Amino acid sequence: MLQETYTLTNGVKVPKLGLGTWLIDKENAAQAVKEAINIGYRHIDTAQDYFNEAEVAAGIKACGVSREEIFLTTKLSAQHKNYEDAVAAIDSSLQRMGLDYVDLMIIHSPQPWDKFGQSDRFTTGNQQAWQALEEAQNAGKIRAIGLSNFQQSDIDNILKNGTIAPAVNQILAHVTNTPAALIQYAQEKGLLVEAYSPIGHGELFKNAQLAQMAEKYEVTIPQLCIRYTLQLGLLPIPKTANPAHMKNNAEVDFVISPDDMAVLKGMEKIKDYGEASMFPVYQ
Ligand SMILES: NC(=O)c1ccc[n+]([C@@H]2O[C@H](COP(=O)([O-])OP(=O)(O)OC[C@H]3O[C@@H](n4cnc5c(N)ncnc54)[C@H](OP(=O)(O)O)[C@@H]3O)[C@@H](O)[C@H]2O)c1
Repeated sequence: MLQETYTLTNGVKVPKLGLGTWLIDKENAAQAVKEAINIGYRHIDTAQDYFNEAEVAAGIKACGVSREEIFLTTKLSAQHKNYEDAVAAIDSSLQRMGLDYVDLMIIHSPQPWDKFGQSDRFTTGNQQAWQALEEAQNAGKIRAIGLSNFQQSDIDNILKNGTIAPAVNQILAHVTNTPAALIQYAQEKGLLVEAYSPIGHGELFKNAQLAQMAEKYEVTIPQLCIRYTLQLGLLPIPKTANPAHMKNNAEVDFVISPDDMAVLKGMEKIKDYGEASMFPVYQ
């Protein structure tokens, strides 16, 4: 799986499995990235809002694999909703990381975090952030640009008003929470859909029905969850700093039957994400 790729609309290839780094702190991020690359991962996902960009980049530089072989994603902070702020933030990411380019940069959310899920969709602000990303792509600072947490109307705003079509939409997608209509819409428009929190931020370990199915396939719950997203044509980015878990998450060369895929799609939604429920993306 670690060698397989999807191809974005602009021809850039992206490894099908990424390593998430949210909540991997500064002290551990470089080591986690080095371990992952050593195991064979070639796709790392960070963000300005994770406050570990510099350490993630340090891991990439120290890993012994050339920069061109690694696909690095970062995210333009959700708070930047005007052109000048977005331009400055894009450049500050590159500066912080000490890199000439990133492979993918995505708008972290259509709304600033303190307005997440509210009625204001920041239409003009996202157009301006997008223009800054387009210019950075044209200048060779970013190889592909995209979106995260965008709903259908937010995607339409960019498609209608931008000059470059977004390459991806990174959204919450896991067993028990699969937004089928949004996925289908984005895929029809040519966007690759990335599945964040593919293990439900760890909450799916509590699901007994899932545990039973994992046992049937002789895999772990994370493996079943990751395979599920891959079979939907999504790109999962499970997070771990544990090398044994990294290896486990990459061993997903089994096939979930159509009947079991239907069972997984229909499983009851996670009601709350425990301590993580305070984060806007789970509200
Ligand atoms: N765009 C957005 O708004 C957004 C929002 C949320 C997340 N994301 C991205 O998606 C990534 C993943 O999502 P997430 O961090 O919320 O959670 P996740 O990947 O769904 O789950 C992570 C949890 O699963 C555990 N785990 C992972 N692999 C395991 C294994 N093989 N065996 C046992 N436990 C395992 C981890 O524990 P250990 O660490 O102990 O292994 C951690 O507790 C993030 O890191 C981030 O890059 C993006």
